[in-house]
Amino acid sequence: MEMDAVKEQIDRLTEELHQHNYYYYMLDDPRISDYDFDQLLKQLADLERAYPQYAHPDSPTQRVGGTVTKQFATARHVYPMLSLGNTYSEGDLLEFDTRVRGLLSRQPDYACELKYDGVAISLIYERGVLVRAVTRGDGVQGDVVTANVKTIGSVPLRLTGNVPALLEARGEIVMPFASFESLNAEREEIGETPFANPRNAASGSLKLQNSSEVAKRGLQFKLYYALGENLPFKTHYDGLQTLHQWGFRMPDVLDLKPDIQGVMDFIAYWHDHKKSLPFPIDGIVIKINSFEQQAQVGSTAKSPRWAIAYKFPAERVATPLLSIDFQVGRTGIVTPVANLQPVNLAGTVVKRATLNNRDFIKDMDIHYGDMLYVEKGGEIIPKIVGVATEQRPVDAKPVSFVTHCPVCGTELHHNEGEAGMFCPNELHCAPQIKGRLEHFISRKAMNIDSLGEGKIDMLFAHDLVQNVADLYTLTYDQLYGLEKVVEDENGKGRVLSFKEKSVRNILNGIEASKSIPFERVLFALGIRYVGEVTAKKLARHFHHIDALASAPKEELMSVEDVGERVAESIIDFFNKTENLEIVMHLHEAGVQFAIDEQQNRPSSQKLNGLSIIVSGVFSIPRDELKTIIEQHGGKNVSSISKNTSFVLAGDKMGPEKRKKAESLNIPIYSEDDFWKMIQE
Ligand code: IVH
Repeated sequence: MEMDAVKEQIDRLTEELHQHNYYYYMLDDPRISDYDFDQLLKQLADLERAYPQYAHPDSPTQRVGGTVTKQFATARHVYPMLSLGNTYSEGDLLEFDTRVRGLLSRQPDYACELKYDGVAISLIYERGVLVRAVTRGDGVQGDVVTANVKTIGSVPLRLTGNVPALLEARGEIVMPFASFESLNAEREEIGETPFANPRNAASGSLKLQNSSEVAKRGLQFKLYYALGENLPFKTHYDGLQTLHQWGFRMPDVLDLKPDIQGVMDFIAYWHDHKKSLPFPIDGIVIKINSFEQQAQVGSTAKSPRWAIAYKFPAERVATPLLSIDFQVGRTGIVTPVANLQPVNLAGTVVKRATLNNRDFIKDMDIHYGDMLYVEKGGEIIPKIVGVATEQRPVDAKPVSFVTHCPVCGTELHHNEGEAGMFCPNELHCAPQIKGRLEHFISRKAMNIDSLGEGKIDMLFAHDLVQNVADLYTLTYDQLYGLEKVVEDENGKGRVLSFKEKSVRNILNGIEASKSIPFERVLFALGIRYVGEVTAKKLARHFHHIDALASAPKEELMSVEDVGERVAESIIDFFNKTENLEIVMHLHEAGVQFAIDEQQNRPSSQKLNGLSIIVSGVFSIPRDELKTIIEQHGGKNVSSISKNTSFVLAGDKMGPEKRKKAESLNIPIYSEDDFWKMIQE
């Protein structure tokens, strides 16, 4: 294609896709199917890849993400990002109204809107093009998260119309409930801690390093005002409407009220209807509508006097305590969990809630048969906040904490100064063994994804694994045909049996975990109090497991963050013969137990001198596959040429790449071929 024609086509596709984004995200009125949109987007992405010099910085392809940010830069806000004063009662609101009217010569109109429960963001547009997105930070400066924010559909990448040369739009990034729930379900499945609420999930998502991951999180942007020189509007309400004409979505809810009574009616309405919203709010924001009046009322250093937030009270219900389960975790800690009479609370049915520990039960003086108050505030997880003692049945007995492990029967212990009771039978208590296995395979540890979804339970039930080292002795024949009962969506049980593909996936996942670096292996071992960060510091200090295992307490304590409690726990761990044997077996299996082993020395030279292209989706993350290639002496390359040795093709490998490989006669190997090649 002629260069001019290429440029023209890129311009045309960019324009067309911007227009369709506008119909879809801003007007909720798509004009073409998702499929057709994706085809156009793909055409543009392909052209931009081949001719990056013609790609627009605000190209709609940025929605898909792909930029990796290792460390977020910080930027100073042009206007500081203030916060709002909070109120919790009608009385406070009346006071606010009296105060502002005292400063003004006439009654102000109040703009009422939702108080979105997410993360504040500042969007900087230069000549109508989004150039920077910055988090609130400390209000003076925040993190630059532009690539991540560009993936959010409701953030316009460019504005149209008579837009000022410099415009700052501010709003909140929220995660709708549906996205929050599916994200957490996914996290639990792979052994990651779920987010406590959509706000934390939104905030965590904005700080992801890979923007294509952010694109999958379903975030939304909610505009709440704009700043700039000589803006062509004089009221908050007109401002939002003008911004809508320039390309932003109108707020879902925005009302003007002539007096404080109107504001209170608005609050009462949304107090009752907030459950119907698909995203979280934690109150209502009230702003003086006229900018002139805003200026007359002014601001303090921390917050404007012309606006106020009314926060909804946390919702609370009372429900009977039916029974208590005592659950044993990975570290043996026994957690009491209340089974409650199911009750509706802020949109979800609550059936269970944690009672934390023995002291919590004692301090609240909880009795069997009590009515318990359950509260749900900003947190999605319900909390027990009190007991309705006046409703206690006369013969109610106080809840006593179990004295023995409810699973293995061992007498529980208690460490001085800690609230938790724990089962000391760590080597033979089933939930502790399973918990350690689950922890070992989890994402931040050995990342053996293919063993998720209850498979550990099954291996354990068939007596195939008793400790983490046993995973490395599993064979194809042991796994093939194993059965597991799963529940379908109607709660009916179905028997699934392992066929060739799942068995291969499991074995490949276990094989791949041998290249996980020492620091993560150390975390995976599950030594009490040795979390991810401590494991990293220990690995960097000791370099090798033998040095760590024989270190005296003083040396352990010389490592940053390692106090007496952690040091003693490490010593205890390595004093147990069973643990030493596990470490030895893992070592023999090829798991990394030294820093330099994995960084400097390749595991083999089987791929020496080969240039390999990795394309498609595999049973393990692509980055890990690339590390394994390097560890076996191979080189990862990104574009096919006659010098490419072979293409390693996963599922959904791009048809273009396949065609090109075939035309150059370059062999294409499957993931299975690859594993055979390096395991031979
Ligand atoms: S206006 C001067 N409007 O609440 C601050 N804020 O503490 C003006 N928020 O940091 C902010 N919804 O992140 C405004 N409709 C809304 C809002 C809103 C949520 C957040 C915002 C701010 C915090 C106030």
